[in-house]
Amino acid sequence: MSSPEKNITSVLKETRVFPPSADFVAASLVDAKERDRLAEWAKRDPDAFWAEQAKSLHWTKPWTQVLDWSNAPHAKWFVGGQLNASENCLDRHLTGPRKNKAAIIFEGEPGDTRTLTYQQLHREVCKFANALKLLGVGKGDRVTIYMPMVPEAAIAMLACARIGAMHSVVFGGFSADAVADRNNDAKSKIIITADGGWRRGKVVPLKANVDAALEKSPTVEKCIVLNRCNTAVEMKHGRDLWWHDLMAAGSQHCPAEPLDSEHPLFILYTSGSTGKPKGVLHTTGGYLLGSSLTHKWVFDLKEDDVYWCTADVGWITGHSYIVYGPLCNGSTIVMYEGAPNQPKEDRFWEIIEKYQVSVFYTAPTAIRAFIKWGDHHPKGHDLSSLRLLGSVGEPINPEAWMWYHKLIGGERCPIVDTWWQTETGAIMIAPLPGAIPTKPGSATKPLPGIEAEVVDKSGNAVPANSGGFLVVKRPWPSMMRTIYGDDERYKTTYWSHYDGIYFTADGARIDDDGYIWVMGRVDDVLNVSGHRLSTMEVESALVNHPKVAEAAVVGKPDDLKGEGIVCFVTLKQGNEPTDALKAELKAHVVHNIGALARPDDIKFTETLPKTRSGKIMRRFLRDVAAGRQSTGDATTLEDYTVLAKLREDEE
Ligand code: WTA
Repeated sequence: MSSPEKNITSVLKETRVFPPSADFVAASLVDAKERDRLAEWAKRDPDAFWAEQAKSLHWTKPWTQVLDWSNAPHAKWFVGGQLNASENCLDRHLTGPRKNKAAIIFEGEPGDTRTLTYQQLHREVCKFANALKLLGVGKGDRVTIYMPMVPEAAIAMLACARIGAMHSVVFGGFSADAVADRNNDAKSKIIITADGGWRRGKVVPLKANVDAALEKSPTVEKCIVLNRCNTAVEMKHGRDLWWHDLMAAGSQHCPAEPLDSEHPLFILYTSGSTGKPKGVLHTTGGYLLGSSLTHKWVFDLKEDDVYWCTADVGWITGHSYIVYGPLCNGSTIVMYEGAPNQPKEDRFWEIIEKYQVSVFYTAPTAIRAFIKWGDHHPKGHDLSSLRLLGSVGEPINPEAWMWYHKLIGGERCPIVDTWWQTETGAIMIAPLPGAIPTKPGSATKPLPGIEAEVVDKSGNAVPANSGGFLVVKRPWPSMMRTIYGDDERYKTTYWSHYDGIYFTADGARIDDDGYIWVMGRVDDVLNVSGHRLSTMEVESALVNHPKVAEAAVVGKPDDLKGEGIVCFVTLKQGNEPTDALKAELKAHVVHNIGALARPDDIKFTETLPKTRSGKIMRRFLRDVAAGRQSTGDATTLEDYTVLAKLREDEE
C-alpha cells in the first residue's frame, strides 16, 4: 500500500484523466457532441426532452402531461398515460428477432446453468402471474419476495408487475425479524421464498427464516416456496405452497394489466437516519423510463452485449440494473447466485470468460476483495470480451479504480462510476462513456436532465473544491414518490432542508472541471460493503438486549468494507464487560437484522459522551473509532475529516 501522504494527495489532487479510446467513441451511442446537445435540450425544455425519451417505452394509452409538480414534493410523471412494466420487459420483444434471444443466463453457485430466452421468460412470468391471481393477489396488493439470486426472483417480480401488485423484495441476508418488520410495514399478503439458496457452499435457510418471520406477520396469508436446494423444509398445511405445483397448474395466457403511469410498481426498504427502515415507493412509468434509459446510455448498450451486474435483486441495483432496465432494453443478462470466492477466488473471472461478458458492473467493496485475493486470479482468465466496466454503491478509491482499470479492463475499457440511491431509482451522476473522460474516484457529471449541484447550508452553490451537500434541483422521472405509509417522513427527510430541492444526504465537492466527487453520507447512515445501514437500527438492536443500558453506533473507515461498524455500549448495573458478552451482543445484532450488520468492534464504556441537552456526541465517537485505526487508508480518512465537518453542519 502507498504512503498516507501519497494517498491524501491522490484524493485531493487526482490529476489522472482517462479519455475513451477513439474506437470506443466512434462506436458509442452518445459522443461528447450528442451529450452536450441532450444536456442543453434538457435544461432548456425539460418537458419536451423527457417526452421524447419516454417514446422508448410502449404505452397502451398516451399521457396528456409530462410532469405535474403542482403538489410538490409529490411528482406525477406522464400523467394519464398507461403502460405495464412486465409487458415492456417481455411481450414487446416477442414480435421481432429478440424472441429467441437469451434474456437470462443463469449460473448457480454449485455450477448448474440455465438460459431463459425472452419467450421462455415471458411464459414463466405469465404462468406465475396467473398463480398469484388464483391466490387472490390483485392490483395494489403487496407481495414480499425473499429469494436467492435465481431467475425465479425476477419471474416473481415481473409477475407482480404484470398484474399490478407491488413487490417488496427483501435481501436474502436479512434475518427473520427483519423480514417480519418489512412484512408488517407493507402489510404483505403473500411471501415468496425458496427452501434455501447457495452461498459459499452452504444452504442459506430462507424457508426456516420465513417460518420464524410468519409467526409475527399476521397479514401474510400464503407462502410460496421454490425448491432450489432440495433441502427438507416444513410446509404448513393451508399456508405453504410449492412453486412447482402452482406452475404446473398455471395457464400460460395472462395479458398484462394496463396500469396508470403513476401506479405503484414496488416498495424497497432502505435504511435511513432512524431505526425504522423506509419503504421507498417507486411507480411505473417514470421508474421504467429512468432505469431503461440510463442502462442504455451509461452502459453504451449494444444489441449483442452480454451484460453482468453482480448486485443482488434484494437491492435497488438489482431492481434497476438486473431486472427492469436491462430487460426493458432487451439485453442478455448474466445472473450468478453465489459468492465470488466459491469454489475459488477466480469465480467471477471464470464466469466472464465462460459467457463472454462484455459489460461488467460491480461494487468497490468487491474490487477491494479481488485486490486482496491477488492478481493471479484475473490474470489466469481471458477477459478480452469485456469492453466496459461499472462501479456502484460507494465512492471508489483511486487505488481500486486503477486496479480495476488495469487488471480487469486491460487498460482498454472505460469505467463508469455511477452515483445514485434507492430513492433516485436510477443512475444520476455518471460518465457517458463515449462522451466524458473519466477521473479515478469521481462519478464525473450529472446525466442529461439531472440537475445535481453541491451547495452549502443555505442552498448556495459552493466554490470549486470545497465540501458541500449534494442536492438535485429539479424533479426527474424515476424519483421516489413517497415512503410507504409515512408521507410526513418523506417530506421531512428529503424536502425540508431546501425549498423544492431534493436533499441526498451525501457530502460532495465539485472540482475545477465541474466533476463531482462524492464523499459519503452526512446523516447517520453507514455504508458497509455498499449496503446501507442506519446506526440507529443497530443501536435499537443492541438496546433490546437485556444487559444493555445504552448504545451508540458509528462508522469507521475500513479498507475492505468501506465502513466498519463500531458500537459503544454501556451495560446495566451488575453486568460484567467480558469478551463472551461482546460475542453475544454481536450475535444478537445479527439475529435482529442480519449478518450484514455484524459489529466489527464493541467497546464497553461507563458513560457515553453527551451534550448538555443529552445528545450523544457522535463526532467524538467517530474520532475515537477512526483514530484507533492505525493502518487505515488515508484517502478514506481524509474524506472523513471533511465529512465530519459537514455532519456538524447538519447536526
Ligand atoms: C452511496 C445504491 C459514491 C451514496 C445505488 C448514496 C455512492 C448511497 C455511489 C445510496 C458512487 C452509491 N459514489 N457514493 N458511485 N453509489 N453511493 O440506496 O452514499 O443502497 O447516498 O443505492 O450509496 O445507497 P443505496
